[in-house]
Amino acid sequence: MIPIADTLLAWYAENGRHDLPWRQTRDSYALWLAEIMLQQTQVETVKPYYSGFLQALPGWEALARAPQDQVLALWSGLGYYARARNAQRAAQKVVADFAGRFPDTREAAETLPGVGRSTAAAVLASAYAQQQAILDANARRVLIRTQAVHGDPKSTRTLQHLWKLAEALTAADAHSYNQAIQDFGALICMPRHPRCPECPLQCRCRAYAEGLSEQLPLRIRKYGTQERCVFFLRIEDGDGRVFLEKRPDSGIWGGLWCLPQFHPQGASEQPVPCTAQHDALADGDALREQVRRFCATQYGLAVEVQGLTAFYKHVFTHFQLHFRCIRTCLQDDEQGMKVADQALSGRWYAPEAALAKGLPTPIRRMLSQSA
Ligand code: ADE
Repeated sequence: MIPIADTLLAWYAENGRHDLPWRQTRDSYALWLAEIMLQQTQVETVKPYYSGFLQALPGWEALARAPQDQVLALWSGLGYYARARNAQRAAQKVVADFAGRFPDTREAAETLPGVGRSTAAAVLASAYAQQQAILDANARRVLIRTQAVHGDPKSTRTLQHLWKLAEALTAADAHSYNQAIQDFGALICMPRHPRCPECPLQCRCRAYAEGLSEQLPLRIRKYGTQERCVFFLRIEDGDGRVFLEKRPDSGIWGGLWCLPQFHPQGASEQPVPCTAQHDALADGDALREQVRRFCATQYGLAVEVQGLTAFYKHVFTHFQLHFRCIRTCLQDDEQGMKVADQALSGRWYAPEAALAKGLPTPIRRMLSQSA
């Protein structure tokens, strides 16, 4: 095993990102929130959301008691919304089961929704000065390269090995060490083109010695990115208000507000392969008729189809979503009122009010462009 802690700590003291907002605190709530936001999102993207969220909901109690809609609105645009729903459930558990304090053992911390081993370790090391090893994407890459780990980085065996290395190499001051290895991974030992000429570990790095700095971590080819297509309906009433539905709690956009999703005849409720959507578009009149029938049976609304937007594309981890918006308006404005009263899950919103809701990013884009 190649020791790296002293070099990383010395490098960090000189070159670390000491001014990151979550590095100005040892408060467990603020640290935990940063770790959750940073789980799948870049530092620069997180910064404004982090300060806005902390300002609005500054502690466990505030988050535990907030309306879910407020939490999702604060998260809107950051993506991976299960994180927001889990964050609120975690805060509720901290208040109910841990007397409003982040638990002080890793086992207990990992019982919180959304908190895995690395997140728990990061918070415990910084909030409670425990010697806890992290293994986020940056730390993983630094270990894989310096120690030349050749296995599939996602496999259980490799991960077990990496955790052993992480535990053995983490300094007693894990708070500083964890930040050091994260920054080192972000600024020197970068994913695509590591800065080996500037690297203080170059002479000890096994991947460098083997000429494999750019080849490690091993990239296992994914299956071709899948494409899925979906139509959304923009139903407008006589005052220009649009109809939004709150989605059920589960799924990628759970709990967010969305335009109704339209399923062409015979299609499942899931997004369909794009070929099926192209089929549906082949006959414009038939599509109009289907949309009319769909709105009548689903919502009791008589609508007229006005047009179709161009394709939008949104890239998720495992697939690309292609979507178009079908613009419709009510034939009779009276019905909008009736439906607003009856609808369990839908409401009419003026465009500005709609944009203030917790919306998935693609829906926000579509609404602001077709407003
Ligand atoms: N990525 C995950 N946690 C982080 C942290 N605390 N600082 C910077 N990047 C991170």
